[in-house]
Amino acid sequence: MTGIALGVCMPRFALAVVSTASASLSPDANYLPCMLQLDVSMTDRCGRLLEERCDPSANFPCSNNCPIHTHGADCYRPIPEVMAEHPGVDGYCYFNATAFWLVYPGQMTMVEAANDAIKTIRGADYQGDSRGMPIHYRLADDAGEASEEITIWSHMDSAHYLYDDLYGYSLGVLQGQGLDTQQMFNSTSWTARSQEMCAHIQRTYQFSKEELVLADALDGNQALAVRTSCAAGLPAPGSTVQSVLDMAGWRSPTSCRPISRRDFAKHHYVKCSLGFRNSAMDMAYLHSRACLLEGNRIGHLSECPYSPDLT
Ligand SMILES: *[C@@H]1O[C@H](CO)[C@@H](O)[C@H](O)[C@H]1NC(C)=O
Ligand SMILES: *[C@@H]1O[C@H](CO)[C@@H](O)[C@H](O)[C@H]1NC(C)=O
Repeated sequence: MTGIALGVCMPRFALAVVSTASASLSPDANYLPCMLQLDVSMTDRCGRLLEERCDPSANFPCSNNCPIHTHGADCYRPIPEVMAEHPGVDGYCYFNATAFWLVYPGQMTMVEAANDAIKTIRGADYQGDSRGMPIHYRLADDAGEASEEITIWSHMDSAHYLYDDLYGYSLGVLQGQGLDTQQMFNSTSWTARSQEMCAHIQRTYQFSKEELVLADALDGNQALAVRTSCAAGLPAPGSTVQSVLDMAGWRSPTSCRPISRRDFAKHHYVKCSLGFRNSAMDMAYLHSRACLLEGNRIGHLSECPYSPDLT
Protein backbone atom coordinates (compact mmCIF):
# COMPACT_ATOMS: atom_id res chain seq x y z
CA MET A 1 0.00 0.00 0.00
CA THR A 2 3.00 2.26 0.30
CA GLY A 3 4.30 1.94 -3.24
CA ILE A 4 2.80 4.07 -5.97
CA ALA A 5 2.48 1.50 -8.68
CA LEU A 6 0.83 3.38 -11.51
CA GLY A 7 2.37 6.83 -11.77
CA VAL A 8 0.24 9.14 -9.67
CA CYS A 9 -2.49 6.55 -9.05
CA MET A 10 -2.96 5.00 -5.67
CA PRO A 11 -5.21 2.04 -6.40
CA ARG A 12 -6.37 1.31 -2.87
CA PHE A 13 -8.19 4.62 -2.62
CA ALA A 14 -9.04 5.16 -6.22
CA LEU A 15 -10.83 1.83 -6.55
CA ALA A 16 -13.71 2.99 -4.42
CA VAL A 17 -14.07 6.04 -6.63
CA VAL A 18 -14.61 3.96 -9.74
CA SER A 19 -17.64 2.25 -8.30
CA THR A 20 -20.64 4.45 -7.81
CA ALA A 21 -22.25 2.13 -5.29
CA SER A 22 -21.19 1.06 -1.85
CA ALA A 23 -17.83 2.77 -1.47
CA SER A 24 -16.55 0.83 1.49
CA LEU A 25 -13.06 2.25 1.03
CA SER A 26 -12.76 5.97 1.52
CA PRO A 27 -12.54 7.66 -1.86
CA ASP A 28 -9.99 10.33 -2.45
CA ALA A 29 -11.05 12.81 -5.08
CA ASN A 30 -7.45 13.63 -5.97
CA TYR A 31 -7.08 10.36 -7.81
CA LEU A 32 -10.35 10.46 -9.68
CA PRO A 33 -9.16 11.55 -13.16
CA CYS A 34 -6.43 8.97 -13.18
CA MET A 35 -8.75 6.09 -12.33
CA LEU A 36 -11.52 7.08 -14.68
CA GLN A 37 -9.04 6.88 -17.48
CA LEU A 38 -7.97 3.40 -16.38
CA ASP A 39 -11.55 2.25 -16.03
CA VAL A 40 -12.52 3.25 -19.57
CA SER A 41 -9.57 1.43 -21.10
CA MET A 42 -10.58 -1.78 -19.30
CA THR A 43 -14.28 -2.02 -19.89
CA ASP A 44 -13.97 -4.67 -22.57
CA ARG A 45 -11.59 -6.92 -20.69
CA CYS A 46 -11.59 -9.14 -17.65
CA GLY A 47 -10.84 -7.63 -14.30
CA ARG A 48 -7.20 -7.60 -13.35
CA LEU A 49 -4.72 -6.42 -10.78
CA LEU A 50 -3.40 -2.88 -10.69
CA GLU A 51 -0.05 -4.10 -9.43
CA GLU A 52 2.14 -6.96 -10.55
CA ARG A 53 1.99 -8.78 -7.24
CA CYS A 54 -0.54 -9.96 -4.68
CA ASP A 55 -1.80 -7.56 -2.05
CA PRO A 56 0.50 -8.07 0.95
CA SER A 57 -2.22 -7.03 3.44
CA ALA A 58 -4.27 -10.22 2.78
CA ASN A 59 -4.59 -12.66 5.70
CA PHE A 60 -3.06 -15.47 3.61
CA PRO A 61 -0.75 -15.21 0.57
CA CYS A 62 -2.68 -14.15 -2.56
CA SER A 63 -6.03 -14.77 -0.90
CA ASN A 64 -7.58 -11.33 -1.33
CA ASN A 65 -6.43 -8.86 -3.98
CA CYS A 66 -9.58 -6.75 -3.92
CA PRO A 67 -7.74 -3.60 -2.73
CA ILE A 68 -5.60 -3.67 -5.88
CA HIS A 69 -8.20 -4.91 -8.37
CA THR A 70 -9.94 -3.06 -11.21
CA HIS A 71 -13.34 -4.21 -9.86
CA GLY A 72 -12.24 -4.17 -6.25
CA ALA A 73 -15.12 -2.08 -4.90
CA ASP A 74 -17.59 -4.70 -6.11
CA CYS A 75 -15.89 -7.29 -3.89
CA TYR A 76 -17.68 -5.71 -0.93
CA ARG A 77 -21.18 -6.07 -2.39
CA PRO A 78 -23.34 -9.21 -2.74
CA ILE A 79 -22.13 -11.22 -5.75
CA PRO A 80 -25.70 -11.79 -7.08
CA GLU A 81 -26.22 -8.01 -7.24
CA VAL A 82 -22.93 -7.37 -9.01
CA MET A 83 -23.44 -10.16 -11.55
CA ALA A 84 -27.01 -9.01 -12.24
CA GLU A 85 -25.54 -5.68 -13.36
CA HIS A 86 -23.25 -7.49 -15.82
CA PRO A 87 -25.44 -9.98 -17.68
CA GLY A 88 -23.49 -12.49 -19.71
CA VAL A 89 -20.20 -11.66 -18.02
CA ASP A 90 -18.38 -14.55 -16.39
CA GLY A 91 -17.77 -13.88 -12.69
CA TYR A 92 -14.29 -15.37 -12.84
CA CYS A 93 -13.53 -12.94 -15.67
CA TYR A 94 -15.01 -9.97 -13.82
CA PHE A 95 -13.19 -10.80 -10.58
CA ASN A 96 -10.18 -12.38 -12.32
CA ALA A 97 -7.13 -12.74 -10.03
CA THR A 98 -8.82 -11.50 -6.84
CA ALA A 99 -7.41 -14.69 -5.26
CA PHE A 100 -5.09 -17.55 -6.17
CA TRP A 101 -8.14 -19.80 -6.61
CA LEU A 102 -10.14 -17.25 -8.58
CA VAL A 103 -8.40 -16.72 -11.90
CA TYR A 104 -10.20 -16.65 -15.26
CA PRO A 105 -9.13 -19.78 -17.14
CA GLY A 106 -10.33 -18.73 -20.61
CA GLN A 107 -12.23 -21.12 -22.82
CA MET A 108 -11.56 -24.68 -21.75
CA THR A 109 -13.50 -27.92 -21.64
CA MET A 110 -14.46 -29.35 -18.27
CA VAL A 111 -11.94 -32.17 -18.64
CA GLU A 112 -9.14 -29.77 -19.58
CA ALA A 113 -9.99 -27.52 -16.65
CA ALA A 114 -10.07 -30.45 -14.22
CA ASN A 115 -6.77 -31.91 -15.40
CA ASP A 116 -5.13 -28.51 -15.42
CA ALA A 117 -6.27 -27.83 -11.86
CA ILE A 118 -5.10 -31.23 -10.60
CA LYS A 119 -1.62 -30.59 -12.03
CA THR A 120 -1.43 -26.94 -10.97
CA ILE A 121 -2.63 -27.36 -7.39
CA ARG A 122 -0.50 -30.42 -6.70
CA GLY A 123 2.43 -29.31 -4.58
CA ALA A 124 6.07 -30.37 -4.65
CA ASP A 125 5.10 -32.39 -1.56
CA TYR A 126 3.01 -34.83 -3.67
CA GLN A 127 3.78 -38.40 -2.62
CA GLY A 128 1.80 -40.62 -5.03
CA ASP A 129 -1.63 -42.16 -4.64
CA SER A 130 -2.41 -43.03 -1.03
CA ARG A 131 1.23 -42.74 0.01
CA GLY A 132 0.50 -39.73 2.19
CA MET A 133 -0.41 -39.61 5.87
CA PRO A 134 -3.76 -41.24 6.72
CA ILE A 135 -6.37 -38.70 7.80
CA HIS A 136 -9.63 -39.38 9.60
CA TYR A 137 -12.35 -36.76 9.44
CA ARG A 138 -15.50 -36.22 11.38
CA LEU A 139 -18.13 -34.31 9.44
CA ALA A 140 -21.20 -32.88 11.10
CA ASP A 141 -24.25 -33.21 8.89
CA ASP A 142 -26.06 -29.95 9.47
CA ALA A 143 -28.30 -30.20 6.42
CA GLY A 144 -30.85 -32.47 8.04
CA GLU A 145 -32.81 -32.09 11.24
CA ALA A 146 -30.53 -34.23 13.38
CA SER A 147 -26.82 -33.49 13.45
CA GLU A 148 -25.35 -36.80 12.38
CA GLU A 149 -21.62 -37.32 12.49
CA ILE A 150 -19.89 -39.30 9.77
CA THR A 151 -16.33 -40.62 9.83
CA ILE A 152 -14.42 -40.69 6.54
CA TRP A 153 -10.80 -41.40 5.95
CA SER A 154 -8.26 -40.65 3.28
CA HIS A 155 -4.56 -40.17 2.62
CA MET A 156 -3.01 -36.73 2.46
CA ASP A 157 -0.83 -37.25 -0.60
CA SER A 158 -0.35 -33.49 -0.91
CA ALA A 159 -1.23 -30.70 1.53
CA HIS A 160 -4.37 -29.54 -0.32
CA TYR A 161 -5.88 -33.06 -0.14
CA LEU A 162 -6.86 -32.33 3.46
CA TYR A 163 -9.36 -29.73 2.24
CA ASP A 164 -10.31 -30.98 -1.21
CA ASP A 165 -11.07 -34.58 -0.19
CA LEU A 166 -13.60 -33.63 2.45
CA TYR A 167 -14.93 -30.78 0.31
CA GLY A 168 -15.67 -33.15 -2.60
CA TYR A 169 -17.18 -35.75 -0.30
CA SER A 170 -19.33 -33.21 1.50
CA LEU A 171 -20.75 -31.88 -1.78
CA GLY A 172 -21.35 -35.45 -2.94
CA VAL A 173 -19.40 -35.05 -6.19
CA LEU A 174 -16.67 -37.69 -5.79
CA GLN A 175 -16.76 -40.65 -8.14
CA GLY A 176 -19.03 -43.23 -6.56
CA GLN A 177 -21.38 -40.64 -5.10
CA GLY A 178 -23.87 -40.61 -7.94
CA LEU A 179 -22.56 -38.32 -10.69
CA ASP A 180 -22.15 -39.74 -14.18
CA THR A 181 -18.50 -39.34 -15.19
CA GLN A 182 -19.36 -39.56 -18.91
CA GLN A 183 -21.41 -36.39 -18.59
CA MET A 184 -18.20 -34.49 -17.82
CA PHE A 185 -17.05 -35.03 -21.42
CA ASN A 186 -19.91 -32.81 -22.59
CA SER A 187 -19.20 -29.41 -21.02
CA THR A 188 -22.70 -28.05 -21.75
CA SER A 189 -24.35 -31.00 -20.14
CA TRP A 190 -21.99 -30.97 -17.11
CA THR A 191 -22.60 -27.24 -16.64
CA ALA A 192 -26.36 -27.89 -16.63
CA ARG A 193 -25.76 -30.59 -14.01
CA SER A 194 -23.80 -28.10 -11.94
CA GLN A 195 -26.63 -25.58 -12.19
CA GLU A 196 -29.00 -28.20 -10.79
CA MET A 197 -26.63 -28.90 -7.94
CA CYS A 198 -26.31 -25.19 -7.19
CA ALA A 199 -30.11 -24.91 -7.05
CA HIS A 200 -30.23 -27.90 -4.72
CA ILE A 201 -27.63 -26.31 -2.43
CA GLN A 202 -29.59 -23.08 -2.32
CA ARG A 203 -32.87 -24.88 -1.56
CA THR A 204 -31.11 -26.64 1.31
CA TYR A 205 -29.16 -23.77 2.86
CA GLN A 206 -30.90 -20.60 1.63
CA PHE A 207 -27.85 -18.35 1.67
CA SER A 208 -28.80 -14.70 1.94
CA LYS A 209 -27.31 -12.10 -0.41
CA GLU A 210 -25.36 -10.71 2.52
CA GLU A 211 -23.67 -14.08 2.99
CA LEU A 212 -22.47 -13.95 -0.62
CA VAL A 213 -20.00 -11.08 -0.52
CA LEU A 214 -16.80 -11.97 -2.35
CA ALA A 215 -14.34 -10.22 -0.02
CA ASP A 216 -15.79 -12.12 2.94
CA ALA A 217 -15.42 -15.41 1.10
CA LEU A 218 -11.82 -14.55 0.21
CA ASP A 219 -10.95 -13.54 3.78
CA GLY A 220 -12.68 -16.61 5.17
CA ASN A 221 -11.05 -19.14 2.87
CA GLN A 222 -8.05 -19.95 5.05
CA ALA A 223 -10.33 -20.17 8.09
CA LEU A 224 -12.14 -22.99 6.27
CA ALA A 225 -8.80 -24.76 5.85
CA VAL A 226 -8.16 -24.38 9.58
CA ARG A 227 -11.62 -25.74 10.38
CA THR A 228 -10.95 -28.72 8.08
CA SER A 229 -7.78 -29.42 10.11
CA CYS A 230 -10.03 -29.31 13.15
CA ALA A 231 -12.37 -31.89 11.61
CA ALA A 232 -9.32 -34.12 11.12
CA GLY A 233 -7.85 -33.48 14.60
CA LEU A 234 -4.71 -32.05 13.02
CA PRO A 235 -2.70 -28.91 13.84
CA ALA A 236 -3.69 -25.74 11.99
CA PRO A 237 -1.52 -25.03 8.93
CA GLY A 238 1.68 -23.47 10.24
CA SER A 239 1.51 -20.31 8.18
CA THR A 240 -1.88 -19.28 9.58
CA VAL A 241 -2.01 -15.84 11.20
CA GLN A 242 -3.78 -15.20 14.52
CA SER A 243 -6.71 -13.27 13.03
CA VAL A 244 -7.55 -16.29 10.86
CA LEU A 245 -7.27 -18.69 13.81
CA ASP A 246 -9.66 -16.44 15.74
CA MET A 247 -12.08 -16.33 12.81
CA ALA A 248 -11.95 -20.13 12.63
CA GLY A 249 -12.61 -20.48 16.37
CA TRP A 250 -9.31 -22.31 16.80
CA ARG A 251 -7.55 -22.83 20.14
CA SER A 252 -6.01 -26.28 19.67
CA PRO A 253 -6.67 -29.47 17.65
CA THR A 254 -9.09 -30.56 20.39
CA SER A 255 -10.61 -27.15 21.09
CA CYS A 256 -11.77 -25.86 17.74
CA ARG A 257 -14.78 -25.59 15.44
CA PRO A 258 -14.88 -28.36 12.80
CA ILE A 259 -15.96 -27.50 9.30
CA SER A 260 -19.55 -28.38 8.38
CA ARG A 261 -21.44 -29.32 5.26
CA ARG A 262 -22.94 -25.85 5.21
CA ASP A 263 -19.46 -24.26 5.10
CA PHE A 264 -18.46 -26.39 2.13
CA ALA A 265 -21.77 -25.76 0.40
CA LYS A 266 -21.31 -22.01 0.80
CA HIS A 267 -17.76 -22.14 -0.54
CA HIS A 268 -19.12 -23.90 -3.62
CA TYR A 269 -22.16 -21.64 -3.89
CA VAL A 270 -19.91 -18.60 -4.21
CA LYS A 271 -18.60 -20.25 -7.38
CA CYS A 272 -22.19 -20.95 -8.54
CA SER A 273 -22.93 -17.24 -8.04
CA LEU A 274 -19.95 -16.35 -10.23
CA GLY A 275 -21.34 -18.46 -13.09
CA PHE A 276 -22.24 -22.13 -13.51
CA ARG A 277 -19.25 -22.75 -15.77
CA ASN A 278 -17.10 -22.03 -12.73
CA SER A 279 -19.00 -24.25 -10.32
CA ALA A 280 -19.01 -26.91 -13.06
CA MET A 281 -15.22 -26.72 -13.40
CA ASP A 282 -14.87 -27.00 -9.63
CA MET A 283 -17.13 -30.05 -9.70
CA ALA A 284 -15.11 -31.56 -12.58
CA TYR A 285 -11.89 -31.06 -10.65
CA LEU A 286 -13.27 -32.66 -7.48
CA HIS A 287 -14.85 -35.52 -9.42
CA SER A 288 -11.74 -36.28 -11.50
CA ARG A 289 -9.28 -36.44 -8.65
CA ALA A 290 -11.00 -38.68 -6.10
CA CYS A 291 -13.57 -41.37 -5.42
CA LEU A 292 -15.49 -42.84 -2.53
CA LEU A 293 -14.38 -46.42 -1.94
CA GLU A 294 -15.57 -49.13 0.43
CA GLY A 295 -15.27 -48.49 4.13
CA ASN A 296 -15.85 -44.74 3.72
CA ARG A 297 -12.36 -44.32 2.33
CA ILE A 298 -11.55 -41.65 -0.22
CA GLY A 299 -9.23 -42.89 -2.96
CA HIS A 300 -7.35 -40.88 -5.56
CA LEU A 301 -6.59 -40.95 -9.28
CA SER A 302 -5.23 -44.44 -10.10
CA GLU A 303 -7.38 -45.97 -7.34
CA CYS A 304 -10.57 -44.66 -8.92
CA PRO A 305 -12.82 -45.97 -11.71
CA TYR A 306 -11.97 -42.90 -13.81
CA SER A 307 -8.37 -41.75 -13.69
CA PRO A 308 -7.67 -38.61 -15.73
CA ASP A 309 -4.85 -38.52 -18.25
CA LEU A 310 -2.48 -36.00 -16.70
CA THR A 311 0.33 -36.26 -19.24
C1 LIG B 1 -6.26 -11.75 -15.06
O1 LIG B 1 -5.50 -10.95 -14.18
C2 LIG B 1 -4.11 -11.12 -14.31
C3 LIG B 1 -3.43 -10.34 -13.18
O2 LIG B 1 -3.69 -8.99 -13.27
C4 LIG B 1 -3.70 -10.64 -15.69
O3 LIG B 1 -2.31 -10.81 -15.86
C5 LIG B 1 -4.45 -11.44 -16.73
O4 LIG B 1 -4.17 -10.93 -18.03
C6 LIG B 1 -5.96 -11.35 -16.49
N1 LIG B 1 -6.65 -12.26 -17.40
C7 LIG B 1 -7.49 -11.82 -18.33
C8 LIG B 1 -8.14 -12.87 -19.16
O5 LIG B 1 -7.76 -10.66 -18.50
C1 LIG C 1 -24.02 -32.16 -25.11
O1 LIG C 1 -25.13 -31.99 -24.26
C2 LIG C 1 -26.11 -31.10 -24.80
C3 LIG C 1 -27.12 -30.80 -23.69
O2 LIG C 1 -27.37 -31.91 -22.89
C4 LIG C 1 -26.70 -31.71 -26.04
O3 LIG C 1 -27.70 -30.87 -26.57
C5 LIG C 1 -25.59 -31.92 -27.04
O4 LIG C 1 -26.09 -32.60 -28.19
C6 LIG C 1 -24.43 -32.72 -26.44
N1 LIG C 1 -23.30 -32.71 -27.36
C7 LIG C 1 -22.70 -33.81 -27.79
C8 LIG C 1 -21.52 -33.60 -28.67
O5 LIG C 1 -23.06 -34.91 -27.47
